[in-house]
Amino acid sequence: MAKTVLVTGGAGYIGSHTVLQLLIGEFRVVVVDNLDNASDVAIERVAELAGERGRNLEFHQIDLRDKPALEKLFASKSNFDAVIHFAGLKAVGESVQKPLMYYNNNITGTITLLEVMSAHGCKKLVFSSSATVYGWPKEVPCTEEFPICAMNPYGRTKLFIEEICRDIHRSDPEWKIILLRYFNPVGAHPSGYIGEDPRGIPNNLMPFVQQVAVGRRPALTVYGTDYSTKDGTGVRDYIHVVDLSDGHIAALNKLSDAKIGCEVYNLGTGKGTSVLEMVAAFDKASGKKIPLVMAGRRPGDAEIVYASTEKAECELHWKAKYGIDEMCRDQWNWASKNPWGYGSPDSSN
Ligand code: NAD
Ligand code: UFG
Repeated sequence: MAKTVLVTGGAGYIGSHTVLQLLIGEFRVVVVDNLDNASDVAIERVAELAGERGRNLEFHQIDLRDKPALEKLFASKSNFDAVIHFAGLKAVGESVQKPLMYYNNNITGTITLLEVMSAHGCKKLVFSSSATVYGWPKEVPCTEEFPICAMNPYGRTKLFIEEICRDIHRSDPEWKIILLRYFNPVGAHPSGYIGEDPRGIPNNLMPFVQQVAVGRRPALTVYGTDYSTKDGTGVRDYIHVVDLSDGHIAALNKLSDAKIGCEVYNLGTGKGTSVLEMVAAFDKASGKKIPLVMAGRRPGDAEIVYASTEKAECELHWKAKYGIDEMCRDQWNWASKNPWGYGSPDSSN
């Protein structure tokens, strides 16, 4: 029988792409999302892209902190085989301004989810952690054994949730938990039908570049040109969102391994790309020239961050397939077909 997976935050950027890969992989999927940072149009499009298998998708608009609603959902299902937990707030700057909102949403939401899972005997979890827990790493590539730290309240929620998961597993070894540390997810599904649609001014590089390309913003500000890197700009490990989504299927499969406890894996490509290299790749893919404004460093930014991919390759049998040219091609395909994301000029800012 097909496995049923609960996906929290499944209407969001990474969630929607992962739900599609799950449906294609013949899983049944139940999505829970409060739509705070997403549109239900994403769910409709995922169902369409999945064709016949779109029938295996169910959506519930629920806030994870609404325990009775979550209880009711779990009680109405015979059981979930596993949960993939994406739901959370993710804007670093906002988390500095509104730490309580971040702790409440991300930590309370996760604890509520874990309590309900435990009460219903569902003890398999894949959690969205982040490379942010490596801070400014002393060396690269970052391996999973590196010390972890938090640079801001958002990062602290990831660090705390990782620790909570380790404690839960120590207290009850029946729990099987995989913590996935994402590097920098970019791009979109090659159909151009689903992609990233941030609300407000984008914090991250590629959503900003995309909005400059479609004329919504005048220029990209490049934060920092004096780093000790090939061209002075920050270096990151960009990973195609479809590769990242496939990493979740690999993690789900790994949860069936009798020996797995609470384990961490990096999901990255292992390659470092500078801001200027990424912009050049996007210029090439789009045929546009993104106007640049050179500026000082953004507070809290690390210089060079990229992943060691060895552990995921060996143990999850997963490896990213796409390079930055494909990432930029698909980012542009999505942006040019949906310049206002899932909304319209009136609904966006
Ligand atoms: P996203 O904002 O597009 O998706 C998160 C989804 O969770 C949204 O659809 C939002 O509506 C939902 N949500 C938030 N709080 C909720 C709550 N209390 N109850 C129910 N739904 C809720 O973000 P994303 O980029 O898809 O990120 C998914 C996860 O991956 C997040 O946990 C994020 O912190 C993590 N992550 C993202 C990145 C990145 O660069 N995108 C990097 C590392 C880790
Ligand atoms: N950058 C610019 N201009 C912008 C935005 C970004 O020059 O307008 C630069 C940054 O300075 C950095 C690089 O582009 O050098 C990447 O920046 P992002 O904001 O896209 O990504 P970060 O690596 O800084 O951080 C993001 C998330 C973190 C997460 C991390 C790893 O914001 O929460 O990816 O997943 F931890």
